[in-house]
Amino acid sequence: HGYPDTDIEQILITQEQIAERTAEMAQRIGERYSDTPEDLILIGVLKGAVMFMTDLSRALPIPNQMEFMAISSYGSSTSSSGVVRILKDLDRDIAGRDVLIVEDIIDSGLTLTWLMKNLATRSPRSLEVVTLLRKPAAVSLPVQVSDVGFDIENAFVIGYGLDCAERYRDLPFVARLNPEVYSG
Ligand code: PRP
Ligand code: MN
Ligand code: MG
Repeated sequence: HGYPDTDIEQILITQEQIAERTAEMAQRIGERYSDTPEDLILIGVLKGAVMFMTDLSRALPIPNQMEFMAISSYGSSTSSSGVVRILKDLDRDIAGRDVLIVEDIIDSGLTLTWLMKNLATRSPRSLEVVTLLRKPAAVSLPVQVSDVGFDIENAFVIGYGLDCAERYRDLPFVARLNPEVYSG
């Protein structure tokens, strides 16, 4: 991959494990939406969800369409306030459609809580969430997450879309980042 080996403390989920779990989730989701009147709309949250989104889309056994949103949390970068700003909105109407939000990770859950509320006001036929990863703080969230790929430890994780200052998204696996990288 070209990064120093010391940047990666431990691989938590391999490329093969991601592919296997994605295929399982895609089957389950496909069964759930098999009777829907129109194509399922996937909404990927940029940028972290991009890798999972494209793999999930291709693994789904039902027709699906890809849309993207980019959102950013207001305020300090260390603690999210829960107030979110739309950087790129959907460019189409989702009223009456079956919508599945696709996330790479739910950490505090603030991004997702806000997004669910926002999208619910647009009158979709249904609105659910799939995430590849979930951290411990998000396990007890009131927001219902229909599908979770892996519940993981509370560590700084990178790879397969997840970044540290925009780096490491291109790694094909999920790994724990060496703390020396982000503590300077
Ligand atoms: C990350 C991640 C989720 C969100 C989860 O995105 O991709 O979207 O944070 O955190 P939360 O549950 O505490 O809200 P980030 O804001 O880093 O943007 P990115 O996807 O472009 O990396
Ligand atoms: Mn994100
Ligand atoms: Mg990020």
